[in-house]
Amino acid sequence: MSNDNESAGLDRVLVLEVARVTEVAAIAAARWRGQGKNKDADRAAVDAMRRELGRVHIKGRVVIGEGEMDEAPMLYIGEEVGTGDGPAVDIAVDPLEGTTICAKDMPNALAVIAIAERGRLLNAPDMYMDKIAIGPGYPDGIIDLDRPVADVLRDLAKHKGCPVREVTACILDRDRHTDLIKQVRAAGAGVRLIPDGDIAGVIWATDPKQTGIDIYLGSGGAPEGVLAAAALRCIGGQMQGRLAPERHTDKERPELIARARKMGIPDIRRKYSMLDMASGDVIFSASGVTSGSLLSGVMFVGDMAETETVVMRAKTGTVRRIRTRTRNVDAK
Ligand code: FBP
Repeated sequence: MSNDNESAGLDRVLVLEVARVTEVAAIAAARWRGQGKNKDADRAAVDAMRRELGRVHIKGRVVIGEGEMDEAPMLYIGEEVGTGDGPAVDIAVDPLEGTTICAKDMPNALAVIAIAERGRLLNAPDMYMDKIAIGPGYPDGIIDLDRPVADVLRDLAKHKGCPVREVTACILDRDRHTDLIKQVRAAGAGVRLIPDGDIAGVIWATDPKQTGIDIYLGSGGAPEGVLAAAALRCIGGQMQGRLAPERHTDKERPELIARARKMGIPDIRRKYSMLDMASGDVIFSASGVTSGSLLSGVMFVGDMAETETVVMRAKTGTVRRIRTRTRNVDAK
């Protein structure tokens, strides 16, 4: 991965183009909200995102996508997207982050994308990653996957100027986190459990005053980890991730390790910093599919659809919130 200082930056015009891509994916997925059909919702979001990406003036290459070429018909890893007549960029997509929450019409399903200069996003396999993330304003090195959680929480409280009981960790509600949750509570901190959607979980940790969340902890998808790191690059904060083959079954593990090696990861136990996962200039966009505390979901009013999107850029640290009303979305 190249040095961050060498970045020439992405054309800022791309910001709006990228926002359009998540808007259309969110609208397509929103038509399946509450239908109990994860796959259909996901497929609709993937189709719409792929279609819209085809109109963007980039020479894009998917590095985080829907899977390997033989398992995903669209937005597979390595797929070339865009018109082909623009800058060479790498793309990480999660057309529907939170397929189950969309299918159940629960809060915080999102359509998400990040684009970066070529070679600046970690090509992570679809496996678990252990993650730890905080927002801006803390000294470097305060978080570390290898530090005891109680020490991290104590230091966070110290820097916030509050008792540990006023620190809250966001964690995915999974059996594999039972021990972690116990450790956080034993340290005196609180736990906010979420059913799904750890990209939002990491982003929440960047704004504790609004969200009440100070730190994101636990394991989730590695692709979501790279997307969250891309978002943090724009907002500011610190994050570490480490692939977690031990969270998979004995049967799955050798294949996942081999896949990681094929993707250029010889050391499966490497600890990645935020910059290792997303460097240079990065544009990140997320549009709400279902309403949540990060974004409003899509509203259908007559033949119009309204979306809310947050789109941000690492080079300038600009964070934009865009409310869009668009017509005839099915015809696009
Ligand atoms: P999907 O959109 O693929 O359903 O992912 C939702 C999610 O909660 C992610 O945010 C998270 O990284 C991952 O699933 C966690 O995986 P698991 O559900 O296996 O614990």
